Amino acid sequence: MELLEAMRSRRSVHEYKEEKVDKGVLERIFAESAWAPNHRMKEPWQIRLYQDNGKIGYAQAVMESYQRQGFFDGYEEDKTNRLQEGIRDFLMNIPHHALIYMEKDEDVRKYEEDYAAVCAYIQNVQLLAWEAGVGVLWTTSPYLHDVQFSEAIGLDNQHFKLVSVLQMGYPKRIPKPKMRTPIHHKLDLYDGNEKS
Ligand SMILES: Cc1cc2nc3c(=O)[nH]c(=O)nc-3n(C[C@H](O)[C@H](O)[C@H](O)COP(=O)(O)O)c2cc1C
Repeated sequence: MELLEAMRSRRSVHEYKEEKVDKGVLERIFAESAWAPNHRMKEPWQIRLYQDNGKIGYAQAVMESYQRQGFFDGYEEDKTNRLQEGIRDFLMNIPHHALIYMEKDEDVRKYEEDYAAVCAYIQNVQLLAWEAGVGVLWTTSPYLHDVQFSEAIGLDNQHFKLVSVLQMGYPKRIPKPKMRTPIHHKLDLYDGNEKS
């Protein structure tokens, strides 16, 4: 697939088939994405892949975080149980959840560089996955900022920033493209001939 075609046709995928993606395909995507630019060659990305029964503990931690954040407040017990079951089923039906995280550098500048590099890595993952027919949703849900969620999954919030959870699998449905703004609204050319 050509680069421009991949960039244009890739969509954020919200619905997945049941079928898992082969370990080898996923490993290739995560390995080759490391060609992302990264300052000081820190390769700051870390990946934790939840799948199969590994999703149970993850989904439970997500649920408990939603609960702490008041997501279920004000509902009757019955309704709360149904909501929770719905969310759990939704998460369990997604074949893979790739938690992307990084070490927190105490130096703000280096922290920003590392975060930027991890985002470049994630976009590589999205494009390589797309080329392999695999859909991805880049998510940044509130639980990524919940200290107790970090604790529940065994990552010390003092040392690690949780950047994203990538939902992954073969797309059941590919959303329509959302068109982008024409570049003349964004690009200002300063070549010495601009009017003052
Ligand atoms: C940093 C970041 C966080 C995102 N978080 C979410 C999210 O939590 N939930 C979601 O449905 N989409 C999320 N997205 C996906 C965007 O909504 C999506 O890229 C946008 O709507 C454009 O659609 P496209 O990727 O199909 O072109 C996120 C994207 C980025 C870059």
